[in-house]
Amino acid sequence: MDEGERLQKTLARAGFGSRRSCEILITEGRVTIDGRVAELGNRVKTDENIICVDGTLAPTAQSTVYYLLNKPDGVVTTASDPQGRATVLDLVESPVRVFPVGRLDMNTEGLLILTNDGRLAHLLTHPSSGIAKEYLARVEGDPSPAAIRRLREGVELDDGMTSPAQVSRVSEGLLRIVIHEGRNRQVRRMCTAVGHDVTRLVRTRIGPLQDATLTPGSSRQLSLGEVRKLMEAVGMTDEIASTMPS
Ligand code: URA
Repeated sequence: MDEGERLQKTLARAGFGSRRSCEILITEGRVTIDGRVAELGNRVKTDENIICVDGTLAPTAQSTVYYLLNKPDGVVTTASDPQGRATVLDLVESPVRVFPVGRLDMNTEGLLILTNDGRLAHLLTHPSSGIAKEYLARVEGDPSPAAIRRLREGVELDDGMTSPAQVSRVSEGLLRIVIHEGRNRQVRRMCTAVGHDVTRLVRTRIGPLQDATLTPGSSRQLSLGEVRKLMEAVGMTDEIASTMPS
């Protein structure tokens, strides 16, 4: 019978240091298997067990991994750039190959999810998901209440009317815009359509995910709780159940 492999070996392969230092993580009680604190000598099956270190899902080879990046200005959202520019993948240290969920323009900053979970990525980017994406847009001039109302109600773009959006004026020339679609350069085009070109654009929320402490250029793994909230938001109910400790 397949007993699985020693936990410290799995953790070492997932990037938590040598087997010896992974044994220390285990003895310190920082590792859980399916929600229970692991002990030295435990064996795991990476396709069955949920392994967490300090409450964060460990990127074991067969498991799915989820990262949140604060994308800085000037970095392209692509897996590889023929022109050799810096890509978002250069900013995420993952032991397994991940890809960005949707895209931010090269000059847009802010939150971007990277994962190897194709199903979640597909559902998050599918137009029917209606996931809220919140942006802070610095624009030229100071939009009037009428311009803000147009942004809220929908503006005509060359690929059709935009759906209703939540738009509020934070301060002079600064708008908070929440959209539920994901068309190419949508926020920039919406603002231009009402006469206010965007000079800086930052994504501050993706559905339930926010993190004002993540500095530009840095990334972190999503916690199990955050992954569950995302799955909930796109209706991945079976998958949520499989992340629950038994
Ligand atoms: N809207 C834009 O205009 N650009 C982005 O990068 C994201 C949303």
